[in-house]
Amino acid sequence: MKKKMKVLGIETSCDETSVAILEASASSVRVLHHETATQIPVHALYGGVVPEIAARLHVAETVALLDRALGKDKQADKFDAIAVTQGPGLATALRVGIEAARTLALVTKKPIIGVNHLEGHLASAWLIPENRKNWKFPILALLVSGGHSELVLMKDFCSYKILGRTRDDAAGEAFDKTAKLMGLGYPGGPIISKLAETGNPEAFKFPRPMIHDPSLDFSFSGLKTAVRQTWEKLPKSKQSQKKVQADLCASIQQAITDVLVAKTIRAAEKYKPTAICIVGGVSANKHLQQCMRSQIRTQLKGVKMLKPSKGFYTDNAAMIAAAGAWHLLKGEKHDWRKMGPKPELDL
Ligand code: KG4
Ligand code: ZN
Repeated sequence: MKKKMKVLGIETSCDETSVAILEASASSVRVLHHETATQIPVHALYGGVVPEIAARLHVAETVALLDRALGKDKQADKFDAIAVTQGPGLATALRVGIEAARTLALVTKKPIIGVNHLEGHLASAWLIPENRKNWKFPILALLVSGGHSELVLMKDFCSYKILGRTRDDAAGEAFDKTAKLMGLGYPGGPIISKLAETGNPEAFKFPRPMIHDPSLDFSFSGLKTAVRQTWEKLPKSKQSQKKVQADLCASIQQAITDVLVAKTIRAAEKYKPTAICIVGGVSANKHLQQCMRSQIRTQLKGVKMLKPSKGFYTDNAAMIAAAGAWHLLKGEKHDWRKMGPKPELDL
């Protein structure tokens, strides 16, 4: 296997179709091409992701994105290997990217690797040059996306230990479901964080589920129930007031943030990482970033905070190509004939 390689990444696990080409070595990475087509405006009409629509839109977008990524001449030297999201995700959506990747592997005879989407999120922070300077294992990752909330100890590239996970709803789901019950739209995270900017985080007293539990697990369904009960007790005239909505959003965001930060700090005190990395769609939350940074500064001397940058928080193919490169550079590859979606894949 070459020391430096160009990896074509394909991501279609949920509601973003994305294609990227990276040039990667063990210590460096350069994004040569990256394009993501979001389906969010379509799913927003239904209040959440509709799997069958997602798959159909991926079919339309994947080939168009590959066409642009490979340029006018479609030269085979545009990439040395293919990395595609294999799971977790929606089976029908994953299938689209995987079939495109398998076909490319068949006709180009280039190596292919199926990538765990969660490992892709871990690699999203590695795409940032400043982060790579501080990339010294062990690194503690808080992985917070629409379907996952996990504390992961990264012992080395491709070597992880899950320290805690959610027992019910993920942090992203807590944002999405509470926004939905208040009729604010989809996806809830960016909407709640925007409205929270002018709200009082102490206006409503919401629970911090499992914050004192000695385990490193999370649980957010109780928070959702508490928000529902509070919302249903409010008169309609109050529900529509901007100030009340802002206070609710700030209070929800604070409750989620307090739990995520407290558990991450507790895990770091136990496992002594050199850095804490926050990844996944929810890591785009500015309030979470600020609270995490300030707690790390005051409680964990010398520990760095790493996070992705704009465009790489939510689902994207650059992170899939990066995680694929970690495995490909070790000489791993899969047999395209045997590859299929793994919707329930774990780290
Ligand atoms: O990682 P991601 O793009 O997809 C999954 O793998 O699930 O994460 C999507 C999740 C959604 O729940 C969305 O509401 C949340 O990330 N999210 C945010 C923000 N931006 C996206 N949550 C809080 N604050 C944000 N700014
Ligand atoms: Zn994701």
